[in-house]
Amino acid sequence: MDAKTPAAPAAVEHRKRGGTGAEGLPPLLRRFPTIADLRKRARRRVPRFAFDFVDGGCGENEVRDSNRVAFDAIKLVARYGLGAGAVSTEIELFGRHYAAPIGIAPMGMGGLLWPKAERHLATAAQAMKVPYVLSTPASASIEEIAKIAPDVFWFQLYGSPGNDNAITFDLVRRAKEAGAHTLVVTIDTPVRAKRPQDWRNNLSVPFKPNLRTVIDVATSPLWALEMLRQGVPCPENFRAYAGT
Ligand SMILES: Cc1cc2nc3c(=O)[nH]c(=O)nc-3n(C[C@H](O)[C@H](O)[C@H](O)COP(=O)(O)O)c2cc1C
Repeated sequence: MDAKTPAAPAAVEHRKRGGTGAEGLPPLLRRFPTIADLRKRARRRVPRFAFDFVDGGCGENEVRDSNRVAFDAIKLVARYGLGAGAVSTEIELFGRHYAAPIGIAPMGMGGLLWPKAERHLATAAQAMKVPYVLSTPASASIEEIAKIAPDVFWFQLYGSPGNDNAITFDLVRRAKEAGAHTLVVTIDTPVRAKRPQDWRNNLSVPFKPNLRTVIDVATSPLWALEMLRQGVPCPENFRAYAGT
């Protein structure tokens, strides 16, 4: 394997070697073989307001649910016995080479779900050579992620609060100077989305705890401990403009 080719995901390697059971699998993959397993674990480990932030959609989740139905309707049909030879998922995207035509989508305030989530995701994307798209309101800064994922760093841009174009252009400048390879402009959020589960959970920035959220945190001790150790996440890209 050359330096440009990332290791195949452990599950693929395992099946290539003819493994039929859990023998030889990395422990994490054995514990969480599917996304559903990870979701169940997250539901137990993080407070309700953080879980709902990621799991919930807008309105009554109509779009989230219909996306899921559409996704499930996609069938990958294998064509056996054709002697396909070596198969490659590698791809050129916007003038750069990646290991696969998929990447990690931008997510605001990832640190709410788990401290330093963006750093972990960027590290994984760099190792796997797939794009990592840092969100404008991420809880890690452009400059930090550019260092962690220099080969795969993309930046997602929202208009800034109050349509302050000076901040918007400065974010673009910072992304360019830090070495972002692609700018992803999101235009489908002209107004703040209606997310009822966040309203019910009293989720706000800055965070204002009430009795329910305090109980929620108290019953998620691992999450609470990690937050205490690492500090409460904030939208790091805007830190430079506080007070401007
Ligand atoms: C919790 C959460 C936060 C998100 N934050 C952003 C964001 O900051 N910027 C953005 O462009 N898209 C954001 N998105 C949209 C995702 O990047 C993605 O486009 C969307 O979730 C659809 O992909 P999916 O079907 O794989 O979830 C967010 C989505 C979720 C669930």
